[in-house]
Amino acid sequence: MKRFVIANWKMQVTAAEAETLARAVVEKWAAQGAQSPDTAAVLCAPFTAIERVGAAVRGTPVALGAQDCFWEDKGAYTGEVSPAELKSFGVEYCIVGHSERRGLVGETDEMVRKKVTALLRHGIRPVVCVGETREEREGGRRDAVVIGQVKSALEGNRPVGTQFIVIAYEPRWVIGTGQAVSPEDAASMHHLIIQTLHEIYPADVVERQFAVIYGGSVDSSNMRGFLGEEVIRGALVGGASLKPQEFVSLCEIAADMTR
Ligand code: PGA
Repeated sequence: MKRFVIANWKMQVTAAEAETLARAVVEKWAAQGAQSPDTAAVLCAPFTAIERVGAAVRGTPVALGAQDCFWEDKGAYTGEVSPAELKSFGVEYCIVGHSERRGLVGETDEMVRKKVTALLRHGIRPVVCVGETREEREGGRRDAVVIGQVKSALEGNRPVGTQFIVIAYEPRWVIGTGQAVSPEDAASMHHLIIQTLHEIYPADVVERQFAVIYGGSVDSSNMRGFLGEEVIRGALVGGASLKPQEFVSLCEIAADMTR
């Protein structure tokens, strides 16, 4: 079963720093990554660094990702970046609906859905972030919020052929805090998301075209606990992905636990 270790560098690095980071990850992961085809290491770079990080990872076992995109291919959309353009730089994965975008710039479920459609059309794998706020959890609305986000992102979107969707369950209130939820807590939400997928798609589509991963304060001290839950297929990693050795350790743990 393939595992995904996806770095989200956010707006933490310049293009030059991103390139250095990417080269360090490649150097540390190249040999082992080549022997671990069931572990996907993905670097989601800022737009300004896509070209440089793309060049650093080309021909290596490390994949290039972006942190957002627009849903149209071309046109009068000031400030936006199209999936077609990302694809031309070798982007294979793209985060959509990250908690920081939902919270800070008002990304809606409808926008997330349109981005998923556009990414699938271009053969880029969407990494769809879902998750509840602390208030929603404390108010007993966690499950309804997450199910609603999943259903909305997938409405009218059915992955076929080699198309693939990663769903990242990230409880919004633990992101960047150093305090992850327990593996059991995360696993119960993964089961709920998979159950929701089964309500929408036939079983073979759920099995072949989807993976659900966990995000929120993952590091090398808790990664094993999460991956020990079979339903958790990987991690979306913010802070810990900014240290190349730490990120590669996460990939090594994933590879070790996939064998
Ligand atoms: P974190 O970020 O690992 O720093 O909590 C995760 C994310 O925002 O995707």
